[in-house]
Amino acid sequence: PTVLVLNGPNLNLLGTREPHIYGRDTLAGIKAMVEAWGEGFGLEVEFHQSNHEGELIDLIHGARGRATGIIINAGAYTHTSIAIMDALIAVEVPTIEVHLSNIFKREAFRHHSYISLAARGVICGLGVQGYLLALEAVKGLIGQELP
Ligand code: DQA
Repeated sequence: PTVLVLNGPNLNLLGTREPHIYGRDTLAGIKAMVEAWGEGFGLEVEFHQSNHEGELIDLIHGARGRATGIIINAGAYTHTSIAIMDALIAVEVPTIEVHLSNIFKREAFRHHSYISLAARGVICGLGVQGYLLALEAVKGLIGQELP
C-alpha cells in the first residue's frame, strides 16, 4: 500500500528554520526516517515537499484511487487553503494532518485549520514523531470501512 506524505511551504528549510520551534532535523533526515518507518509498517512512502499550493493539489489529485492514505503537513497553507481542503475531500483518500509544533500553543491565526475539515485525525506538537504516529494510523485504517 502506498502512502503519500506531503509537506508544504517552508518545510524545505527545516534544520535551520526556527529550530526552537521545529527542531534540528532536516527535511532530508525526516524523509529518510519516514521511509524507514513506512517500510516497518509495510507501507510504500511517497515523500514530497512543495512551496506551491497548486503543486500540492496536483499531488493530492494523483493519490485518487491509488494511495491508501495521505499524511499532510501543509505548513502555513493549513490556515489559508480552502483549495487544498477541497482537493483532499474530493479524492476521498483518508488523510492524517500533522504539525511538528503544537499549533494551539502558538499565535491565534494558527489555531484554525482548513485541513482538519478534511482529515480523519490530527497530530500536532510531537515533532517528527508525529509522522511515525500518522503512519501507524494509516496502517490501522487499512481494511476499515472508509471514510
Ligand atoms: C507547521 C505549523 C504551521 O503553522 C506553520 O505555518 C508551518 C509548520 C508545523 O509543522 O508545526 O509552516 O505546519
